[in-house]
Order: sequence, then structure tokens, then C-alpha cells
Amino acid sequence: MTTSSSLAPQTSASSLLSLCLSFVLFANMGCGNGASPAEDSTITQPHVVANNAEEAGRYLAIVGGCNDCHTEGYLQTEGDVPEEEWLTGSSLGWRGPWGTTYPPNLRLRVQEMTEDAWVDQIHTRTALPPMPWMNVNQLAEQDARALYRYLQLLGPRGEHAPAAVPPDEEPVTPYLSLQPLNIETAE
Ligand code: HEC
Repeated sequence: MTTSSSLAPQTSASSLLSLCLSFVLFANMGCGNGASPAEDSTITQPHVVANNAEEAGRYLAIVGGCNDCHTEGYLQTEGDVPEEEWLTGSSLGWRGPWGTTYPPNLRLRVQEMTEDAWVDQIHTRTALPPMPWMNVNQLAEQDARALYRYLQLLGPRGEHAPAAVPPDEEPVTPYLSLQPLNIETAE
């Protein structure tokens, strides 16, 4: 290769690289087989990098354990539930000192709120158990948005989950008991 013919490709390769980095920064998009996220100094908060937000949201719903509770039968079948039924809520109650709570139908909930309201809730809500709010509150904004986009992609389906039952009432649905035994509670 002569000097003049190798210069042009180099220039366009470096501008492609900066374009690629701006995409990673502003649109949460991966760029081919570029730098691994762990080494990319443009990423200030850890978050999932995928081809698009919906794909990131699907991944988060699986590895973040959201399906475990928010998908009917998912825990009992070790995940053998068709994707079209994912995140439609569950009528299996979780009973503890707080009463009995039911994982809401997230696909219906996102129809009722804007993406910004969803992100705000993900970051600020704290009750009730066993929803792992202390962990979910720390989701990166991109990841919270990715979950919203995935839930919108799945679309509305199913019914709302049963309302929570107060501690002194017996639930009529099946439920799991999370009654602390031989454990000193925080109060
Ligand atoms: C151990 C079970 C469990 C897991 C795991 C779980 N949730 Fe929940 N979730 C619940 C329960 C029960 C509620 C109802 C209590 C409440 O609203 O605080 C709930 C409530 C919610 C709500 C509030 C919905 C509304 O009515 O506005 C959101 C949003 C939510 N979960 C998102 C998630 C996401 C995202 C994940 C995965 C990262 C997840 N949950 C994992 C059990 C769980």
C-alpha cells in the first residue's frame, strides 16, 4: 500500500470510532465488536449494552429475576413459560408480617404510566416485600427504560393481580409463607 492510499481509510476508521463511541454514550447501543463495556471509559454507571433497548430489557427481566415473581408459574416450572405470557403478574401470594402481596401485571401497569413515571417509580419506591426494591432502586436509568420498552413490546395481556391482603386476613389464593422463624426482626 502507498502512503496516500492508506491515509484515507485510517481517517474514516477513526471517525467511525468516534461515531461509535457517541452511540454508546447517548443511545446505549453496542457497536460491533468494539471495546468491552468494562474497559469503555465513556460508561460512568454500569448498565446493559445490547443491540436495542427491548433486547436489553428482555435480558434484564431474565437475569434480574423479574419473571420469578411477576410471571405466573415461572418459579414452579423453572422458567418453562412461553414468552408471550411473561410479566403478566401472579396470583401466587407472598405472605409475611406485611400481609400478603401479589406481583402486579407489569404489562398492564406500563400502559397506565409514562416511561418517565416508570423510571421514577423504579428509583424511589420502597414497599412492599418481597419485591426487592432495595436492589431495583439501583437500576441504571438506561436499564429502567429498557425494561419499560420491553414491557411495551410485549404489549398488554391478562388481568390485574389480586389486591394485597392485610396481615390479619386469610388470603383466598394459594400463597407462600415468608414468616420469619427464630429471626429477630428489625422492629
Ligand atoms: C420475590 C418476588 C419479586 C421479584 C423477584 C420481583 N418483584 Fe416486582 N413486585 C413483587 C411484589 C410482591 C410486588 C407488589 C408489592 C409492591 O407493589 O411493592 C411487586 C411490585 C413491583 C412493581 C410495582 C408495580 C405497580 O403496581 O406499580 C414494579 C414496577 C416491579 N415490581 C418491578 C419488578 C422488576 C423490574 C423486577 C426485576 C428486576 C421485579 N419486580 C422483581 C415481587 C417481586
